[in-house]
Amino acid sequence: MSERRLRIVEGMLTTQNADGTVNVAPMGPRVDESFTQFLLRPFPGSRTYENLLRTRQATFHVTDDVEMIAQAAVGDLHKSPEFLAESDEGYHVLSGCCRWYQLEAAVVDTSGERAALTCRVTQQGHLRDFFGLNRAKHAVLELAILATRVHLLSTEEIDLAIATMAPWVEKTGGATEVRAWEFLISTIQERRIAVRESS
Ligand SMILES: Cc1cc2nc3c(=O)[nH]c(=O)nc-3n(C[C@H](O)[C@H](O)[C@H](O)COP(=O)(O)O)c2cc1C
Repeated sequence: MSERRLRIVEGMLTTQNADGTVNVAPMGPRVDESFTQFLLRPFPGSRTYENLLRTRQATFHVTDDVEMIAQAAVGDLHKSPEFLAESDEGYHVLSGCCRWYQLEAAVVDTSGERAALTCRVTQQGHLRDFFGLNRAKHAVLELAILATRVHLLSTEEIDLAIATMAPWVEKTGGATEVRAWEFLISTIQERRIAVRESS
């Protein structure tokens, strides 16, 4: 699969932990136009990486629930996600998602900075329509990524992004987006303090 032809789609990935519980994390795999092949690229050190290398199984979800993405990105889900009662062994489908894809890794390459798992789709489903594009949802998604990189990025870089995107949330967001945005802002503050204290 040629990587250059593939877009990234941001969504939620569920994998199964060694104890049988479910791990939920935002991931941005590369995907072809018809969503038949996925290239997952987890960083070593994440639970997702560990689970994928052990099981080679995951469920990817297309969703507009940016509040769940925000919370899961920083490992602080405020309520336990619900899953469809009937899923194949080792797979867990988030019941609030728009679409889901059950993935099985056919090729696993751990030679790079991130692992690269080329996956085929073994099952898929559509549960509800996607809300649609909106700048507030995009801003929350972007800030969620920045919140996972507080230890890598400068304060100025993150503050500039916040100043640029805050009006988008104010102008176009609903209560969910505003709540998710505020949650991420306070998480970033906490992470900055933790980074300062550990250096
Ligand atoms: C929109 C979005 C996309 C992300 N994509 C990836 C990705 O492709 N690979 C990765 O390793 N981390 C990615 N992350 C960061 C992980 O979600 C984050 O490190 C998370 O804490 C990993 O959780 P885990 O340890 O439960 O797997 C992404 C985060 C967001 C918000």
